[in-house]
Amino acid sequence: MSFKVPDLNYDYNALEPYIDTATMQIHHDKHHAAYVAKLNDAVNGTDFAEKQIEDILKNLNAVPENIRTVVRNHGGGHFNHSLFWKTIGPKAGGTPDGTVAKAIDAAFGSFDSFKEKFSAAALNRFGSGWAWLVRDANGAVEITSTANQDSPLSDGKIPVLGIDVWEHAYYLKYQNKRADYIAAFFNVINWKEVNALYENALK
Ligand SMILES: [Fe+2]
Repeated sequence: MSFKVPDLNYDYNALEPYIDTATMQIHHDKHHAAYVAKLNDAVNGTDFAEKQIEDILKNLNAVPENIRTVVRNHGGGHFNHSLFWKTIGPKAGGTPDGTVAKAIDAAFGSFDSFKEKFSAAALNRFGSGWAWLVRDANGAVEITSTANQDSPLSDGKIPVLGIDVWEHAYYLKYQNKRADYIAAFFNVINWKEVNALYENALK
């Protein structure tokens, strides 16, 4: 058994004009595939090849030292991108509803306040990384940011929404204008899926 890149639930061009077709194709088929290939190379022949990526990332210290950095980077890349593809989609955007909407209001006061803080976290992540909406064991949400492909799972948090701010996620269309990409991202957030992730983690 080995790790696999999940199929997209929509076409490469489905997120136009917010995320362009070429970026989706390269990002999914090349970047994500490279994380998976390097993860598989690292864990091949070990018990970790049979584990869930979530469980591996929650306890990186259990990974043998000689492959730990590769698993952290490429396993993180695999998990983070798998979540990313699920929580964006066509005919999406708008505002959340359901349980996660209540948690967002409780934490930030309003959706607009959340949007402002999430955007700032994404904009201010220096270099490559992610901004996240995460929840804790009690259901409270907060905004975090990680460098490179580090996953909130490794910090004991459950990610329910993430924006990839590596240049590979936006440079073809937005070049240096990361703020424009972040603003556009809000039009493709699949809040139904975000709510499902939030609620499933409650179980
Ligand atoms: Fe990416």
